[in-house]
Amino acid sequence: MATVYLNGDFLPVDQAKVSVLDRGFLFGDGVYEVIPVYGGRLLRLEHHLQRLQNSLDAIGLVNPRSDGQWTDIFHALIQQNPSTDHSLYLQVTRGVAPKRDHAYPQETRPTVFVMVNPLKPMDKQELAQGVEAITLDDIRWRACNIKATALLANAMLRNQAVERGAAEAILIRDGMVTEGAASNVFVIRKGELLTPPKGPLLLPGITRDLVLELASENGMPAQEVEIPEASLHKADEIWLTSSTREILPVVKLDGVAVGNGEAGPIWQGMIDIYQDYKDRFRRGEI
Ligand code: PDD
Repeated sequence: MATVYLNGDFLPVDQAKVSVLDRGFLFGDGVYEVIPVYGGRLLRLEHHLQRLQNSLDAIGLVNPRSDGQWTDIFHALIQQNPSTDHSLYLQVTRGVAPKRDHAYPQETRPTVFVMVNPLKPMDKQELAQGVEAITLDDIRWRACNIKATALLANAMLRNQAVERGAAEAILIRDGMVTEGAASNVFVIRKGELLTPPKGPLLLPGITRDLVLELASENGMPAQEVEIPEASLHKADEIWLTSSTREILPVVKLDGVAVGNGEAGPIWQGMIDIYQDYKDRFRRGEI
């Protein structure tokens, strides 16, 4: 049975309980992070903790743990849940208020929950098969830069994709690509990596930033730029990035082959660079 962390205690997941009056349950009033863990080390930990801080600031919650305390909790959980790699999930909600009222209560004790799940190592051959995606209208709010637990719109969108046999929905707002339902989007045109600029319409993905950084270090041209929906359909390659899916090639969009319908050459190059980065990180060289 997996061990999880809840409000100061480490306990079996089936014993971790939260009040029905928790604002996370009643309003989706909370924020979260997902951090990949390779060989016991948390990838880009400082970036995730900074994004958590930004999300907490945006919803007016005081960070309930210091960076050092978070790190200690993460390492304790990783040790108690053996696996080669993990994805770590943490959530902070505004906690329990005496009555249901939309406005923030004066004083609550935030609910802090952390769990780890095994992360299956990604095999290049398997990844190279790619996935199908569909485009959908981005029906979400204008604060998508906050990593909010209120994910009903994202869940509806992803679910529509799955119902249509696709792995992800790529979202379009006012004719422009924003991101995936649970990933960032890269478009490759004439050898150049393009991804939409940060702002309130998309989550500033940690994997997105790492891919941009690796591209720059390896002399691969890249640009943060608005991507019209028409360009998406003309892309040579499309990638989805996230902490759990890393860099996933989209080989079919809305039922039509992307490029020649296989993971493209730029992806082949980038995934090797990314795997090498992970291997060095795992060995403690980064
Ligand atoms: N989601 N955009 C959205 C809407 C996301 O939910 C995610 C990740 C990303 C990619 O961000 P990052 O590279 O920091 O993982 C972009 C996580 C994995 C999740 O909800 O499970």
